[in-house]
Amino acid sequence: MCGIIGYIGSQQAAPILLDALQILEYRGYDSAGIAVLHGSTIVNVKAKGKVNALRARVDSAVQGLGGSLGTMGIGHTRWATHGKPDDINSHPHLSRSGKIAVVHNGIIENHTALRLLLEGHGFNFVSETDTEVVAHLIEYLYRGDPVKAVREAAAMLDGSYALGVLFSEYPDMLVAVKKDSPLIIGLGDNENLIASDIPAVLGHTRNIVRLGEEELAVVKRDAVTVYDRYDTEMIPDVMHIDWDVTSAAKDGYEHFMLKEIAEQPKTVKNTVAAYVKDGHIDFSLASFDEEYFRSIDKIYVIACGSAYHVGVVATQLMEQYLRIPSRAVLASEFSYMDPILDEKTLVIAVSQSGETSDTLNAMRYAKAHGTRTLSVVNILGSTISAESDDVIYTHAGPEIAVATTKAYSAQLVVMYMLIEYIGILRGCPFMPEDEFLNALHELPQKLQELIDDSAYLRDLAGIYQNRKDIFFIGKNLDYALSLEASLKLKEISYIHSEAYAAGELKHGTLSLIQNGTLVIAICTRKELLPQMLSNIKEVSSRGADVITVAEENTDGVEECSTHCIRLPESADFLQPSLAIVPMQYFSYYVALLRGCSIDQPRNLAKSVTVK
Ligand code: G6P
Repeated sequence: MCGIIGYIGSQQAAPILLDALQILEYRGYDSAGIAVLHGSTIVNVKAKGKVNALRARVDSAVQGLGGSLGTMGIGHTRWATHGKPDDINSHPHLSRSGKIAVVHNGIIENHTALRLLLEGHGFNFVSETDTEVVAHLIEYLYRGDPVKAVREAAAMLDGSYALGVLFSEYPDMLVAVKKDSPLIIGLGDNENLIASDIPAVLGHTRNIVRLGEEELAVVKRDAVTVYDRYDTEMIPDVMHIDWDVTSAAKDGYEHFMLKEIAEQPKTVKNTVAAYVKDGHIDFSLASFDEEYFRSIDKIYVIACGSAYHVGVVATQLMEQYLRIPSRAVLASEFSYMDPILDEKTLVIAVSQSGETSDTLNAMRYAKAHGTRTLSVVNILGSTISAESDDVIYTHAGPEIAVATTKAYSAQLVVMYMLIEYIGILRGCPFMPEDEFLNALHELPQKLQELIDDSAYLRDLAGIYQNRKDIFFIGKNLDYALSLEASLKLKEISYIHSEAYAAGELKHGTLSLIQNGTLVIAICTRKELLPQMLSNIKEVSSRGADVITVAEENTDGVEECSTHCIRLPESADFLQPSLAIVPMQYFSYYVALLRGCSIDQPRNLAKSVTVK
């Protein structure tokens, strides 16, 4: 959570920092601030609310200072953890003398002890944040060598941090260091940047260095030096990013979410193409040989949020087709359940960002217990991808809207391919490989049909936008899908919503169904249709309106529903990929009609790097 940015170059820093913060807003948007070195003074401007509120304040500060500020600065957009969102708690935080400014992403777990120590040395705190400790601590340790002071301070911090530090006495450098929170460096032409994520620097450069754990960087206008955790200078790997700037821009769409929904055919196509060679699935997994896949006797998929829902779909399919006991586990719960882990266990960590703290910690737990780990990740070089034994990248490109759509679809497709791949090795694939690949190759076109025919979902959203409670029900894969559809709706529209296994309603939830409740019944499993129709009747006879979601030629659903959403026909296991699209649009339009902040829902952040 939180987005950090730093700039050193020859241009005015403030507008660059503000533009980058706007791009990073998906990481946190309850307050923001920048600190720019102006002459020998740090000008620190902060504001509660979104970056636009900060922009207005910076404009008047710049006017007051003669129309320009300096060419080096740091900035931050916050998702509050310690202390409410307000001007004072927002970053950057200054040290006692005002000569050091710090931006931080992460959580300092021992901040109370450090605060006491520093108060004992006469440092007064103005904010409630854990981060202010870092600014004072660096000043406390500073003896004229900024790099040494940052390194010594970092060594005293427990928890997670990506830090950007500016010293007014050193106008030619920024210092950055990270542990368990992401930080990248953008290598520009006579300018360099630090940032929490790649899109923030794409307007300046596509050459990126991703800082590793406890690595520290000294970032100057014309040079970047990286030191490993033992303070040995290292030659960093420079990645060239081939996304263009528009792939991280709205490109004419009203919201990123709408754009990203529409990008799903391309995302699926690119992801499939990346792992098919000469007509066969090829993941080129260096750490997993065929023998290993034949030997595994259980599978855990660990993930959070929508990525967990991918895990729920995938593990149902794994158990059904591969006949391997498989379980999706919320990453934040994984270690508490004391899972049975050994060399025959496959642990798959699924994460769009590759930085989600709960997923990372669960994966580390699995590794520490002797299990090999495979990650399914969207962001190249992210911590989860770097630390897992092997990685399969989804090819979704940058996803900006907090509510995931295209990354979710790409993750599903990777999971289908992985199941087919393991199934071939174990003699139990979904279907012969050529038929499977044909079905996958047809998926983008079917997704496109759903996208082209989505306008009616706005009307449907108009009818139901003011419902107080919306339930999603389904069986088997449709239940897994219900979980994701319900999450999509509630996270962006703020309507209370729950997903239930359709057969479970009568064990309690039916008491919540009354006149005017909306139930969305997902019925893609033809073999389960009779039972679904009974469950639908249970709710409609108690006054619920029912929207059913079913394949084109499914009989019997129109009669028992208020509205029906139709899907193209496809192989059963692909239906989760199709059925989610109208659900994404429905959620989007409900949120739009309710005037919600779609790309940045309240209280949420895209990349959750705290436990
Ligand atoms: C946040 C996002 C969700 C996402 C989850 C896991 O809660 O709002 O959309 O599914 O994190 O994120 P990851 O990056 O690990 O997929």
